[in-house]
Amino acid sequence: MPPSPAPAQGRCQRLKLASSRDHDTVDTLVMAARPFADRERYARFLHVQHAFHGSLLGLYQDATLNRWLPGLAQLSRFAAVQADMNDLGLGVPPMPAQVAVEAPKALGWLYCSEGSNLGAAFLFKQTQQLGLDAAFGARHLAPHPQGRALHWRAFVEQVDGQVLSEEEEAQAVRGAIAAFDGYRAHMRQVFGDALDA
Ligand code: HEM
Repeated sequence: MPPSPAPAQGRCQRLKLASSRDHDTVDTLVMAARPFADRERYARFLHVQHAFHGSLLGLYQDATLNRWLPGLAQLSRFAAVQADMNDLGLGVPPMPAQVAVEAPKALGWLYCSEGSNLGAAFLFKQTQQLGLDAAFGARHLAPHPQGRALHWRAFVEQVDGQVLSEEEEAQAVRGAIAAFDGYRAHMRQVFGDALDA
């Protein structure tokens, strides 16, 4: 029997390949900021998360995107970020300006945001050194009740299942890269000269 062809690469896999350098620079930037060194630095990190997840709330609530990805609205971690800020007695900043992009490009932004939940396992562990957990201060980094991996696989399946034109596919890639760029910009704005990278 001839070998069967390799399975076509899924969309999320392509987004991962296209944005892996961006991921690594963001990862390096976050580590350079030492966000878990003490609660003051963690508070700054929460401001970054507030800016990023807050800017995506409109996409998580978008009707078209919720048709494409049923249950999307429930995935936003913005309310949990706000609750974490509240736990720590931080003033909640104003609502960030919304990312407003067409649905194909939004898939790239959402890929970045949802994928950040995977690496968050490592970040969540670090928050324990600050006396924080899923019920206080680190809610938004806690795993989904289903577990991170299962939750991620379900999201990937939804995103991979959308039929897009070639141009829309390229838009999704641009969205993912723009999302990492956006995160980097928030990091620089909040941590500024406290960054050595
Ligand atoms: C110090 C900070 C970070 C570390 C150490 C880190 C680490 C990781 C690790 C280890 C994975 C793979 C997990 C797995 O496959 O089980 C991952 C995946 C991912 N992370 Fe991060 N991450 C960090 C920050 C971020 C941030 C801030 C974002 C987004 C703004 C992000 C977006 C993603 C995405 C989209 C994936 C999924 C990649 C894929 O499999 O397609 N990460 N991260």
